[in-house]
Amino acid sequence: MAENFKRTLVTCALPYANGPIHIGHLAGVYVPADIYVRYLRLRGKEVLYVCGSDEHGVPITIKARQLGCSPQDIVDKYHNIIKDSFKALGINFDVYGRTSSKIHAQTASEFFKRLYDSGKFITRESEQYYDPEAKTFLADRYIVGTCPKCGSEGAYGDQCEKCGSTLSPEELINPKSKLSGAQPIKKKTTHWYLPLDRDEQWLRQWILEGHKEWRTNVYGQVKSWLDSGLQPRAVTRDLDWGVPVPVEGAEGKVLYVWFDAPIGYISNTKELLPDSWEKWWKSPDTKLVHFIGKDNIVFHCIVFPSMLKAYGDGFILPENVPANEFLNLEGDKISTSRNWAVWAHEYVQDFPGKEDALRYVLTANAPETKDNDFSWKDFQTRNNSELVAVFGNFVNRAVVLTHKYFGGKVPPVGTLQDIDRAALAEVPALKASLERNIETYHFREALKDAMGIARVGNKYISDTEPWKVAKEDMERTATILNVSLQLCAHLAVAFEPFTPFACARLRKMLDCNPSWDSISELGILEEGHQIGAAELLFTKVEDDQIEAQLAKLAASKAEHLAAEAAAAPVEPQKEEVTFEQFQAMDIRTATVLEAEKVPKTDKLLKLTIDTGIDRRTIVSGIAQYYSPEDMVGKQICILANLKPRMIKGIESKGMILMAAQKDGKMRFITPQEVVDNGAQVG
Ligand code: MF3
Ligand code: ZN
Repeated sequence: MAENFKRTLVTCALPYANGPIHIGHLAGVYVPADIYVRYLRLRGKEVLYVCGSDEHGVPITIKARQLGCSPQDIVDKYHNIIKDSFKALGINFDVYGRTSSKIHAQTASEFFKRLYDSGKFITRESEQYYDPEAKTFLADRYIVGTCPKCGSEGAYGDQCEKCGSTLSPEELINPKSKLSGAQPIKKKTTHWYLPLDRDEQWLRQWILEGHKEWRTNVYGQVKSWLDSGLQPRAVTRDLDWGVPVPVEGAEGKVLYVWFDAPIGYISNTKELLPDSWEKWWKSPDTKLVHFIGKDNIVFHCIVFPSMLKAYGDGFILPENVPANEFLNLEGDKISTSRNWAVWAHEYVQDFPGKEDALRYVLTANAPETKDNDFSWKDFQTRNNSELVAVFGNFVNRAVVLTHKYFGGKVPPVGTLQDIDRAALAEVPALKASLERNIETYHFREALKDAMGIARVGNKYISDTEPWKVAKEDMERTATILNVSLQLCAHLAVAFEPFTPFACARLRKMLDCNPSWDSISELGILEEGHQIGAAELLFTKVEDDQIEAQLAKLAASKAEHLAAEAAAAPVEPQKEEVTFEQFQAMDIRTATVLEAEKVPKTDKLLKLTIDTGIDRRTIVSGIAQYYSPEDMVGKQICILANLKPRMIKGIESKGMILMAAQKDGKMRFITPQEVVDNGAQVG
């Protein structure tokens, strides 16, 4: 690498500990960061890899209230689930801390205090919503109301999730407290603000002039923030969950979650390296890289750098902020509340031994420049026709044949032919491209380069057909397998950042631990070296596994639709009618004598009923809810004097009274006890 940095500090956005992580998080932040870190380590670089849980913020307190437990209970639970998921997927941070820790409270308090003492904040008094019943100020998500932009209900005080608009609580129409449902009142409160407007100039210089190489999505967002003018941002909140504001007269106030969370990167480093953390944060020899999702850009490119700059003391700024766009799932936005997600902890249970497959697919499909889609079909195809059929198949053939013909000893290389040289010659260019791509955060392309090496190997062994050559020319077979095994060794290194589990198996199989520089060298595996037993690198994903995942998603969609219907408001009351109008309707009881489906329809039943006055036929659209057998013998209510109508060629005289539920299901109305047929209802 051409730069002069001595070491690299890689941070990953601290996930909120109010739910498990899903493939969107993995694809957006953690898998690319892990590829980057593994690569740097392979190249012998000094790297520190920092993450942890973000355990403050309003959503955590809301969830705790809903479940009747404490916010600490919530974060304890999810901190562990998230931590285990990372580990299971081979994402091994050097430290995975938490912002509810003591060291974090100390670090964040001290950070605030220093800015406070050196006059870096301004204070502002403002009127904010206050819940008179719950007797507390209502921050951000504690207020819901109608979105002023799209008119949908349930928009939050900071954002409408339907249309994505950023809102302030004052803009909501008909605001309600999420705590008590009460209508909030305005009350005066004072907060500390970071006057970002003062930072515009150096931010422009630093990013817009100095970092034109940043991804266009990141650069573009920063530019648009700067072009529209920065505003002072409140860094405190009236809340009881968070790091208390460490100054006098700030009772009942905590640091805003977006003030304390990024300081978490520092506290977590301190937790791991109490004596040497500063070299990672305050040395110009350190290259700081923040991996984040696109919704975090402003905080990592504008707010946190402004905080670090205000603090002074040599804190470094990020060298790059590779933010990804979002990943969708089966064509729909991933959503925790709708349970439309593939959860990391469920994936590792459902697909044991296939951690690499998920890492691979999320990289091949990474939303680097635009939102992208994950589908289970694509997952299966990529696993089966790329990992299994190309990479795995090649390695398997090379290793199995070496055992078969040479007792598992690397055979002599002999004289190289053009085809051998051509295959080997492709590797250096692919390796160079892979390096360039990873170093410039183009992980999808880098993966293609690694796969390129596997394709070279797979094609080489298919074209040279050592299993046929072995019938007549053992010397040539030896050369082919020697070349193949060298290519396998290259793959064990080139794929390490992407599929670390398979690469560990491959290294074991080859019984060697090649270095990055050895990629493309001939002779990593010396003649006569004994390799280990063949083992499958990858296994197929079967159709039934995919069907099970799709069924799981379908179930969560159905559940969500039902819950949504149940929560929908009931139909408003109709216009008034007079008693006479009501009296004009002849409603009475009747009994179903016969019932049958109306041929060639799905919805209609033809019922023969005894109305007390006569026997008649009514055609009713209830076949979705009742079978003919369900209806026979039942007592019902009918509107007897509805003008007869022809339905599918049958004269229908009257109508059955049904209760229509919100989810669309219909139930017929029946008297509490059996009554005479023809009894007037009114
Ligand atoms: N918890 C935030 C999110 O998931 C990310 C916090 S990153 C940090 O969007 F910088 F604040 F730590
Ligand atoms: Zn909206």
